[in-house]
Amino acid sequence: MDYTKFIEEQIAAIRQTVGDAKAITALSGGVDSSVVTVLGHRALGKNLKTVFIDSALMRQSEPQRVADRFASLGIPVELVDAQDDFLAALAGLTDPEEKRQAVTDTFYSKVFSRLVKESGAKFLLHGTILTDIEETVAGIKRQHNILAQLGIDTQESYGYAVIEPLKTLRKDDVREVAKALALPADVYHRIPFPGPALATRIVGEVTRQRLTTVRKATAIVEEELGDSGAFQYLAVLLNDRATGIRHGKREFGQIIVVRCVQSTDARTATATELPWKKLHRICDRIITEIEDVNRCLYDLTGKPPATIEYI
Ligand code: XMP
Repeated sequence: MDYTKFIEEQIAAIRQTVGDAKAITALSGGVDSSVVTVLGHRALGKNLKTVFIDSALMRQSEPQRVADRFASLGIPVELVDAQDDFLAALAGLTDPEEKRQAVTDTFYSKVFSRLVKESGAKFLLHGTILTDIEETVAGIKRQHNILAQLGIDTQESYGYAVIEPLKTLRKDDVREVAKALALPADVYHRIPFPGPALATRIVGEVTRQRLTTVRKATAIVEEELGDSGAFQYLAVLLNDRATGIRHGKREFGQIIVVRCVQSTDARTATATELPWKKLHRICDRIITEIEDVNRCLYDLTGKPPATIEYI
């Protein structure tokens, strides 16, 4: 595939579709939304507004880190605090699809439609990729960013049209486009992180406290496995407890699962054969650095039948 040609074609197509109107894009810092943001910025300059929605579901310091990164590339990013909106929508929900739906609805109908109205944007630039569409259409999973392919008329439902420049590409191609756009290596080498963010890594109800637990575990796993070369690594908080003993006292503590997988396009994946010593180190850190967690498990399941995330 000729990535330079792809970039030129997409920039021209975005310009033609948007014309003199304004467009908006929600940057998450992942490779898909980063590529779309850069394509949109090159196509539209000031007529593209880039926002980072702080949903309370992001990783440690992520909102500010992403905004600073793009500011240094000459692309201003507006941070939008929508933590309360997302937490209110997720309160009491335990069903995976209901949680995904709550994140999608809050994102698009509540937070985003307000931002679109305020900005006067007529178009949303969106980082949907082919795998997202295929899995959603096949009914495997309701990907948070799929709308049109499910027959949702965004113009009617949310008041804007969606442009999806990456919808014919898979993850490995998106990384090549990022490289061809001269994005920094830490952007295109970044491991995938799902749209519904840490909500996909909490089994059961998403609360501020449970987010804090999974966020700490995520930081440890990312620190420890950053040089593993794996496709993706993550921590999951289970909705179960296990008995343990800490400081001579019985404790009914929380359980964290560590997942680290090899894959090229996320359609299939296998568990990484991590060195035993590394696994012990991760486990030790998780159970000592995070209050209330007294078990840590390593997930050996491949995809299929498991998916990479837990909801
Ligand atoms: P699963 O869990 O379905 O994930 O095996 C496959 C890949 O997709 C990521 N993922 C998502 N990405 N929106 C996204 O943009 C989503 O709703 C979503 N759900 C999962 C996941 O991290 C993995 O890389």
